[in-house]
Amino acid sequence: MARSKEADVARLYHLHSAHVRARPLEPPFDADLRPLPFRTYLGSARTPLPGRDFAIDAPLGAVLERRRSIRDFALRPMPLATLGRLLHASYGVRGMRKIDGEWSNDRPTPSAGGLYPLEIYVATQAVEELPDGLYHYDARAHELELRREGLAHTALVGLTLDQGMIMNTNVVVVITAVPMRTMWKYGQRGYRFLWLDAGHLGQNLYLVATAMGLGPVAIGGFYDEELRRLLSLPAEEDAIYLVCIGQPAPAGSRTGTQRA
Ligand SMILES: Cc1cc2nc3c(=O)[nH]c(=O)nc-3n(C[C@H](O)[C@H](O)[C@H](O)COP(=O)(O)O)c2cc1C
Repeated sequence: MARSKEADVARLYHLHSAHVRARPLEPPFDADLRPLPFRTYLGSARTPLPGRDFAIDAPLGAVLERRRSIRDFALRPMPLATLGRLLHASYGVRGMRKIDGEWSNDRPTPSAGGLYPLEIYVATQAVEELPDGLYHYDARAHELELRREGLAHTALVGLTLDQGMIMNTNVVVVITAVPMRTMWKYGQRGYRFLWLDAGHLGQNLYLVATAMGLGPVAIGGFYDEELRRLLSLPAEEDAIYLVCIGQPAPAGSRTGTQRA
């Protein structure tokens, strides 16, 4: 039930996107409405990333046992290869393969229909050999595309309802979605799949970060339109989830603050 007097749009959406035997499945949209499967910003300055591998030496059981949200960070330089490996192991492109008879990316997360609607942007701070800034991750090329020069962390604190822990993180990963990549095929129900895809990617980021000795924390609350503007997102793309990653403060100096 809605908390305000507004219509309970969540419930309406849930009901209208439910599969019901009496209702035929929505047909796919016209092929020419189908968005490109990858975002590329032509003409932007590009930084090739090292760490296009899965060289993470930690047993999964131990990682799962250790995983938790970290909110106390010590800001120290982070090697560029650590950022590269974090991105590749979480959402890189391992190759191509056929899914449902169509060529699709082969990536470390599952994705409804193999359509991969998500894109990754990173706000970086104190990453070695990389000027602080906002970048788009071109997963095929394993390169960063510069979107905005300079530290974006202060702006990100302001538009995430003052989550000050961001200031000491090296990387704020912003997960965005191009809804039509998935809704083109699955219609209204496809909108559910975007968030499920994002959960898988968020968990990859959590586990890879933990395995590499880093600290992750998710953020679900932010001013949507302000974040769209900060990232200069194309009209067809929305920001949906953030995962901040930094280097955990030594145990004795943690304050244990908790939000959400
Ligand atoms: C969708 C989602 C949104 C979240 N948003 C925030 C947030 O805005 N700020 C924050 O500090 N933690 C946030 N978290 C982290 C949760 O608070 C955390 O996962 C939960 O308290 C369990 O703790 P653990 O991750 O340490 O096991 C979020 C987690 C999820 C899954």
